Amino acid sequence: MDEPSRRNVLVAGGTLGAVGALGAATPAHAGSLWTWSPRGSVAGSGRGVDPRWVWDEEADALVASLLDRGEVPGVNALLRTWTKNGQPLPAGLPADLRDFMERARRLPEWADRGRLATAVEFNEKRGLYLGVLYGFASGMMSTVIPREARAVYYSQGGADMKDRISKTAKLGYDIGSRKAYDPDGEMIVTCVKTRLVHAAVRHLLPKSPYWAKVADEEIPISQRDLMVTWHSLPTTVMKSLTAWKVPIPAAESAAFLHSWQVAAHLLGTKDEYIPASWDEADAQAEQVLKPVLAPTPEGVKLADILLNLGVAFDGTILTKPVLRAFTRFLLGDEIAEWLRIPVEPFWDRLLDVAWGPFVAVREGLLATFPRADDLYWLFDEFLRTMVLAYLSEAKPISIEIPQTNNPH
Ligand code: HEM
Repeated sequence: MDEPSRRNVLVAGGTLGAVGALGAATPAHAGSLWTWSPRGSVAGSGRGVDPRWVWDEEADALVASLLDRGEVPGVNALLRTWTKNGQPLPAGLPADLRDFMERARRLPEWADRGRLATAVEFNEKRGLYLGVLYGFASGMMSTVIPREARAVYYSQGGADMKDRISKTAKLGYDIGSRKAYDPDGEMIVTCVKTRLVHAAVRHLLPKSPYWAKVADEEIPISQRDLMVTWHSLPTTVMKSLTAWKVPIPAAESAAFLHSWQVAAHLLGTKDEYIPASWDEADAQAEQVLKPVLAPTPEGVKLADILLNLGVAFDGTILTKPVLRAFTRFLLGDEIAEWLRIPVEPFWDRLLDVAWGPFVAVREGLLATFPRADDLYWLFDEFLRTMVLAYLSEAKPISIEIPQTNNPH
């Protein structure tokens, strides 16, 4: 590998110049140049270091040590009982982990309870669209983010994709639930556990011979990667809602963003990389998400699994042609072709022509549209069934720290 290792970067690090120079020396692997300014972040300032070379020092060292000490099975067993944001941590956790988690579970100072409450209202009003978009726009997009697709495929969870999708769906479900960040909600717990999972993956995945063969990096899940995936979630969802002309009051749009800013923080993203506004988010996504999108054999397989999950849930409305057309409709021709999704002439055209008017009628902006009697029912049923299929995946499930990679 011709990349600087994290150790080298950290040794060289601290000085912006040194890190910048390392990034510039590896243009093929470093992705696009990082020029996004920390002034546009929730922190409002920062050193401006390319997050490609920043991971999660504290969590990574801690979880590596838990794995080396053989303490992960015991920790997972204890953490199964920790499910609610306001619940004390279970007794018996190793002291270093307990200290870390007590800090990691705190909401950032800039979290605004009022805005989080408005986000709940928005999620309730728009739950039907959000469920479909998290599951399908974000889920499918993650399959064309090469580093994510490879990490998911070769990590422990890759051996049982249905289980893994359930765990990921849990995060979408928790952030959208009425209690999300409240003491009896679960979003803080889900984020802190996920932060530990990501730290474990950084330690374990480099030991996978399968991953090492295809990876273009030494250590996965950099802070830049975290933000890439983050943009596949709220930024992409908001783009679709806007494209569908769903009317969203400015306060609700800002609140939805806020709930995701808090999530990014709790997942261990440094505040200087978390966009402060939608404009800043769009600008960052343009720089980090768009240029990395590409097909991989792993991503193509993952996309196929996602399509089949929908069909397995309900093959009458969620048929393969409908789901393929919906993927093309949401993500465009290029991504559909990367994922080897065939053209579905009938459904592709129907979505192009009738989805906009359907949303307009649903939103009370239009009285009717041609063939509305049949189509309104069909599209509405499709939305409802998709949300059910997606939520059924978010069944009560425990996010656990992995101890190995995918053996295949
Ligand atoms: C695990 C969410 C970024 C790779 C998880 C889990 C959640 C999650 C909820 C727990 C589910 C499970 O254990 O399977 C997120 C969110 C992200 C993000 C919200 C960003 C905002 C990333 C990135 C990568 C990644 C950037 C890789 C480049 C993985 C892997 C696992 C995981 C490999 C563990 C799978 C296993 O159990 O082996 N993530 N993730 N994630 N995530 Fe992420």
